[in-house]
Amino acid sequence: MTLQDLLDHRRAVRHFDPAQPIDENVVRRCIEQAALAPTSSNLQLWEAVHVTDPEVLQGLAHACFDQQTANTAQQMVVFVARRDKHRDHTRRVLEQAVAEIRRSSPADRQEGRIRRQTIYYTKLVPFLYTRCFGLLGLLRKGLSLLIGCFRPIMQETTEGSVRVSVHKSCALVVQTFLLAMAEAGYDTCPLEGYDSHRVARLLGLPRGAEVNMIITCGKRLPSGVWGARQRLPFEECYRKV
Ligand SMILES: Cc1cc2nc3c(=O)[nH]c(=O)nc-3n(C[C@H](O)[C@H](O)[C@H](O)COP(=O)(O)O)c2cc1C
Repeated sequence: MTLQDLLDHRRAVRHFDPAQPIDENVVRRCIEQAALAPTSSNLQLWEAVHVTDPEVLQGLAHACFDQQTANTAQQMVVFVARRDKHRDHTRRVLEQAVAEIRRSSPADRQEGRIRRQTIYYTKLVPFLYTRCFGLLGLLRKGLSLLIGCFRPIMQETTEGSVRVSVHKSCALVVQTFLLAMAEAGYDTCPLEGYDSHRVARLLGLPRGAEVNMIITCGKRLPSGVWGARQRLPFEECYRKV
């Protein structure tokens, strides 16, 4: 299938065929493909909880307000934004970046590149991601507003903005997963209709982890797709400058 075929085929499926099980190894493979999605600063602050256990599926469907897509799902994947892991990921991403520079950069460029990466991952990223009841975010925002008077600087520096950034990256992972599943011949429906507290309790998510989206998975019944695809006119969301 071409990308256009996949995009045309993928639909939000609200009723899966109970007679058609799906292979959990294929779903796992699709999650591996989703891991190739880009993330901000390559921090990969996300996690996928692949739910195949019938009892957990039932509990999860209930936490999704017993929507039909959840009640009929063969499996579900809960994508979780893991801003809380920023320290650990920052350290490991820097280690990988340094190793890659040593492997592939010209010898005379290595030290400069390593220094810049080290400053980025040991100073800038921790400064941006560290939280303190919103206060550090306010301090950062004040600084970026001030510096922004003189030169371009990132303005999304409050704790809320950083949270959005982590969810943004996680959503790219989710979209990649949806397309991978479509290519594998499986159907999905992304959900944000759920009680996040119940989901977190059910899956034993740690504090600081936030459910980004739940994806129901299975094979569609014809009645599982609600009508022809609806979109507003493209011209309304496209502007050329
Ligand atoms: C973030 C997000 C949350 C969604 N939440 C739900 C949901 O809780 N229940 C549901 O039935 N569909 C949900 N959907 C599916 C959308 O309604 C669906 O994608 C949209 O109507 C477009 O249809 P299509 O995916 O078939 O093109 C959600 C989609 C997204 C992207």
